[in-house]
Amino acid sequence: MSVITTIEELRLLAKKRVPRMFYDYADSGSWTESTYRANESDFQKIKLRQRVAVNMEGRSTATTMIGQKVAMPVAIAPTGLTGMQHADGEILAARAAKKFGVPFTLSTMSICSIEDVSKGTDGHPFWFQLYVMRDRDFIERLIERARAANCSALVITLDLQILGQRHKDLKNGLSAPPKLTIPNILNIATKPRWALGMLGTSRREFGNIVGHVKGVENMGSLSAWTAQQFDPRLNWGDVEWIKKRWGGKIILKGIQDVEDARLAVESGADAMIVSNHGGRQLDGAQSSIEALPAIVDAVGKQIEVHMDGGIRSGQDVLKARALGAHGTYIGRAFLYGLGAMGQPGVEKALQIIHNELDLTMAFCGRTQMDTVDKSILLPGTFPQ
Ligand code: GLV
Repeated sequence: MSVITTIEELRLLAKKRVPRMFYDYADSGSWTESTYRANESDFQKIKLRQRVAVNMEGRSTATTMIGQKVAMPVAIAPTGLTGMQHADGEILAARAAKKFGVPFTLSTMSICSIEDVSKGTDGHPFWFQLYVMRDRDFIERLIERARAANCSALVITLDLQILGQRHKDLKNGLSAPPKLTIPNILNIATKPRWALGMLGTSRREFGNIVGHVKGVENMGSLSAWTAQQFDPRLNWGDVEWIKKRWGGKIILKGIQDVEDARLAVESGADAMIVSNHGGRQLDGAQSSIEALPAIVDAVGKQIEVHMDGGIRSGQDVLKARALGAHGTYIGRAFLYGLGAMGQPGVEKALQIIHNELDLTMAFCGRTQMDTVDKSILLPGTFPQ
């Protein structure tokens, strides 16, 4: 195999190695996928200003996110079914993040459990993403488990109380573990590395849920389960309730609108993530990078604003940072690495993004991440 130097090459390799059902789950958006595509393409429209004859020695991409030191302003996003892209995927990605010095966020809908990830990283702190479900006792227990595992932030997702329709997942009959239908068996037979990994682990179900919720031995279809369990009445009162029980750092994920950003500030959260869930929920919504500047303008002095959606290179990270995102998250970019090569693939994804970020920052005439602002962008090419 030739040397891998881009996230796109990791994507192509993951597509070869991961069963179609799980590759499609990661690499798709809802309905027409217009928001999913805009997340990426809106980054491309933003142009950078090259500066020359600036001393580029002693560069650093290091900064902080919610007061925690990070090697670059990039965290691993919470993604569902990560342990289906590669056996023990969440543990491997958390190890890669720990090694690199960036935060790892574990999804409620992970395959490896909170306890598995904690053990697999020798108790290294990570962030835990919480979905609000109807069963409040279960939520309380999840919060306690996250506390016991030394999680250093809770990321509350606000934009998935109902599931955006994703055509491919419905057509593929997405479930974990996959149902052994003839098309699935035939497809898995072409993915021997994946299958061998899966045979070598016992983690093939939703580790935070199966065995922890009464009556949930097997989740069957993801969309049916979400419809039954996720609480469609989720509101700001729930955020307050969770904040009280947790007592630690809170990050609110899924903010798109300035009005909601103001409510997020009032809720007392430590940070918010401008996000459209990777274009997987409301198709037709603005891209994240387009939504970002108005939100930063409205609340950026009161709360740390982060963003996710469409980041496929370090250049995207730099552009988001220039437009006021204190931190960013990668979802698909790390999943491609994981599906392609396991932990070394996630490390590769982080290295690629770091290298692109560092070089682009230098070409724009900056040596420190904390000095990056709008002035590195070409006027007229970026959203206001
Ligand atoms: C879960 O977060 C999903 O987008 O499927």
